[in-house]
Amino acid sequence: MLKNRSLIDPSDFSRQEFCEIFDLAHQIIANPEKYRKSCEGKILATLFYEPSTRTRFSFEAAMLRLGGKVVGFSEPSSSSAAKGESIADTVRTVECYADIVVMRHPKEGAPRVASRYVSIPLINAGDGGHQHPTQTLTDILTIQRLKGSVENKTYGFCGDLKFGRTVHSLIKFLSNHEGVKFYLISPEELRIPDYIREEIIIKNNIPFEEVEKMEPYMGELDFLYMTRVQRERFFNEEDYVRLKDRFILDAAKMKFASPSTYILHPLPRVNEISIEVDNDPRAQYFNQAKNGMFVRMALILKLLGIY
Ligand code: NCD
Repeated sequence: MLKNRSLIDPSDFSRQEFCEIFDLAHQIIANPEKYRKSCEGKILATLFYEPSTRTRFSFEAAMLRLGGKVVGFSEPSSSSAAKGESIADTVRTVECYADIVVMRHPKEGAPRVASRYVSIPLINAGDGGHQHPTQTLTDILTIQRLKGSVENKTYGFCGDLKFGRTVHSLIKFLSNHEGVKFYLISPEELRIPDYIREEIIIKNNIPFEEVEKMEPYMGELDFLYMTRVQRERFFNEEDYVRLKDRFILDAAKMKFASPSTYILHPLPRVNEISIEVDNDPRAQYFNQAKNGMFVRMALILKLLGIY
């Protein structure tokens, strides 16, 4: 039963529960009309303490397309956070007005703490450099639509694997599935955190290699997941400048990929994918962003217990 549950980390739901969400998302894509009024009378609150375009818009659009309404802030300076209110007090207040709440916060663990103070579902929309489980829903729905299933596939993750929360959540989800293999492509300084390597990848016996070049491995990949170097998580600008353009996927590099290697990116992109790649049919990042709305519609319906 997903009714009234919170989603803070990919390990909060079972495989079966995730399947229910994806099945519903596929049904919504096939027949969006059917769900037009499903959330009438319900209110979603979006509390964004960090910048966002896709995540916030797709949650808000999802609720509006379900016939519900939305309240919230995208700028903490416009809320009582600016007066020093605690997260606990803010969410307790929001619970008085809304049926479900989405929170993005720069501090790792903040949404988990907040969820303990409310009895309505709370969704983590990204906590610092930690986790971003609804981006994983978006990524998995996209993978399913392109290649049927996530099993028995080779995934390349490229860029900032240290601070990239989307990568942490996606690896956590995929490591629970059979036949997956990872290439972790990053500069030495931006390698995957130890807890992901030891506690998730190695513990689940997932074959993986940590490498510093993408070309030699691209032909083997089913998916290449590109990421932005997370400037806002660096301690100094010099390191960012030194590392930011280490990996740039352009048309010349795409020649190393196979005809069935799809390119994903959670977006926003900075320089890591040249715009010349956008017209390549293997570039799927804008479709991925669109899938994000459908899967969030499914998540809202499940957590509110409507479907
Ligand atoms: C990502 C995030 O916020 O972690 N964006 C998103 O939600 N689609 C990736 C990023 O900011 O680089």
